Amino acid sequence: MNYNQCWLNYNPISNYPDKEVLSDIAIFTGVNKSSAIIENAVNELELALKRILNITINRQQHIEDAKQADAIQTGIILMITNSELKDEGFILKQEGNRILIQANTEQGLLYGTFDLIRRIAQGDRIKELDIRQNPKNNIRILNHWDNMDGSIERGYSGKSFFFENEELLVNDRTRDYARLIASVGINATVINNVNVRGAASELVTDRYLDKLRTMADIFEGYGIKLYLSANFAAPIEIGGLSVSDPLDKDVINWWDKCVRNIYSKIPSFGGFLIKADSEGRPGPFTYGRTHADGANMLARALKPYGGLLIWRCFVYNCQQDWRDYKTDRARAAYDNFIGLDGKFDDNVILQIKNGPMDFQVREPVSPLFGALKNTNMILEVQAAQEYTGQQRDVCYLIPMWKEILEFETYSKSGGSKISNIVSGNTYNQLNCGMAAVTNTGNDYNWTGHDLVASNLYGFGRLSWDTELSSEQIAREWILQTFPQDERVHNAVLDILLKSWSVYEKYTSPLGIGWMVNPHSHYGVNVDGYEYDRWGTYHRADRDGMGVDRTVKNGTGYVGQYNEPNASMYENKETCPEELLLFFHYIRYDYRLSSGKTLIQHIYDTHFEGVEDVIKMAKDWEGLKGLVASDIYERVSARFEMQLSNAKEWRDRVNTYFYRKSGKNDEKGRKIY
Ligand code: GCU
Repeated sequence: MNYNQCWLNYNPISNYPDKEVLSDIAIFTGVNKSSAIIENAVNELELALKRILNITINRQQHIEDAKQADAIQTGIILMITNSELKDEGFILKQEGNRILIQANTEQGLLYGTFDLIRRIAQGDRIKELDIRQNPKNNIRILNHWDNMDGSIERGYSGKSFFFENEELLVNDRTRDYARLIASVGINATVINNVNVRGAASELVTDRYLDKLRTMADIFEGYGIKLYLSANFAAPIEIGGLSVSDPLDKDVINWWDKCVRNIYSKIPSFGGFLIKADSEGRPGPFTYGRTHADGANMLARALKPYGGLLIWRCFVYNCQQDWRDYKTDRARAAYDNFIGLDGKFDDNVILQIKNGPMDFQVREPVSPLFGALKNTNMILEVQAAQEYTGQQRDVCYLIPMWKEILEFETYSKSGGSKISNIVSGNTYNQLNCGMAAVTNTGNDYNWTGHDLVASNLYGFGRLSWDTELSSEQIAREWILQTFPQDERVHNAVLDILLKSWSVYEKYTSPLGIGWMVNPHSHYGVNVDGYEYDRWGTYHRADRDGMGVDRTVKNGTGYVGQYNEPNASMYENKETCPEELLLFFHYIRYDYRLSSGKTLIQHIYDTHFEGVEDVIKMAKDWEGLKGLVASDIYERVSARFEMQLSNAKEWRDRVNTYFYRKSGKNDEKGRKIY
């Protein structure tokens, strides 16, 4: 299948100012010549320079001796140094007619090379470059929810490019995928769905290991570790044992043997990701054991080989009674894991979803991040737009992730915002970082909607450097994706930067979430989850709506936050308005800070949201002839779908609350 290269298309730049620095170029590699990483870095550089600037590299030289390399006056020089950098960090320097890329490891050189390419592709000057970078997070990992039949759970961009008919796919796309994600600093990937069923349970066995090795080797050449989601009940399902009790000797031996076998075939294997005791998946609870028992058992099998065990905290009661106002799904991650703080081995990492529910367009930050002090953590976000428009509606998610990273947890005095907790800085932990449930598939453009490749790009860049702004990331992506044209750049930037708030306007209001069609999670259905077992309610009645999660009268969820956050959320006057209905039951005639009543706010935002989509679609229309026609047509078609989705949301939400409340729209607009 044919496909494009997203931000690695390397569009030509006609008037690049520093071309002379790059002429008569040579690449000197003061490192192991036969290293796959170095070979890949050099090939990438060659490809990029050829395509962007039409420069052909005329010679390549391999120099072992650092002093000799130092004497070279012209060219791009990749050199291993011994400087105060993290393993993956790099230095980028321009001195006269040479550009130095230095790092302590080959992986660092690869990132330095991609950084240089990015600058050139963006048309940035490379004169006077003097850059030193280290990644903020050690683990920057993608989670693919790909199934072995080729389908993708919550996939909105075609089928899997890893699996088909229970077989592994290893082809050109495997390498291009590795190039794409390595270029933005991603260093690990889990290729199969967290819901491990059927043949996927056997990925850890000889049935698949040889082919996996081929894949892992390609990844390794780009500094990417291969991880697998494993089935906690594998000892039963494929091992012939009668239990998967983590304290059972036979079970322990089974996993030890299984892991030993994996590493004998794939020495670079990263480890396992586990979804256990969650939404019907097996886990330690069956045997009266804790998550720590389960995770540590697997972690100990991985430990001798340097492997990591990532354990998800998405554990909650999915058999709730909607009549029950006390049980609160939002509380679940904290309630399930807080008592286990400090009980996990050091190669166990808890992977926690950004919010307490499930990737809604607006949620507060999970309080678990601010509560665990002796546990490695990974922040899990979802680039796959399950609840944010499914890659039919444009929704650039970096502004949301930035807000999460900036949230101050007050876990420790002196600053403990999420970015520092998940980077391991706050509590001096090494095995920490960020994960994204990714949005890719085998569609021509990888992500279904051309504009949301920016989320994949942005996840990589943000997990490398959490201080980058949403705008900078968007600009970078645009400059590398589209041809040089300011009109295009400005229009796309504007669309991306407002897209999340536009999506929020026409969907569920003020943090309440859900209101989607059950199962598919696309499209409006206000009561879709209201009388169901999933613990996801808006509690609207004739007087008002929202879930009371206060300590005083509600579910007590607010009490899971540290002060002063707890008090801030407890009082509706100080609760951030965008989360008001998440934390409080509010009457329709309650006045918001804008002076509007809640009901008027709902009407207004829903009318506005649709107008905003119309405006975005129009702005895109203005780019006809300026962007490639296939991209133009694809994105236009998505805007059409988005507009009809937005109108449906507007009319159903407004009508629903008009009928519930009996309150008129002050502006007298059409409500049905
Ligand atoms: C959501 C999603 C599921 C997924 C689950 C998870 O519930 O709808 O498809 O399996 O999250 O994160 O494990």
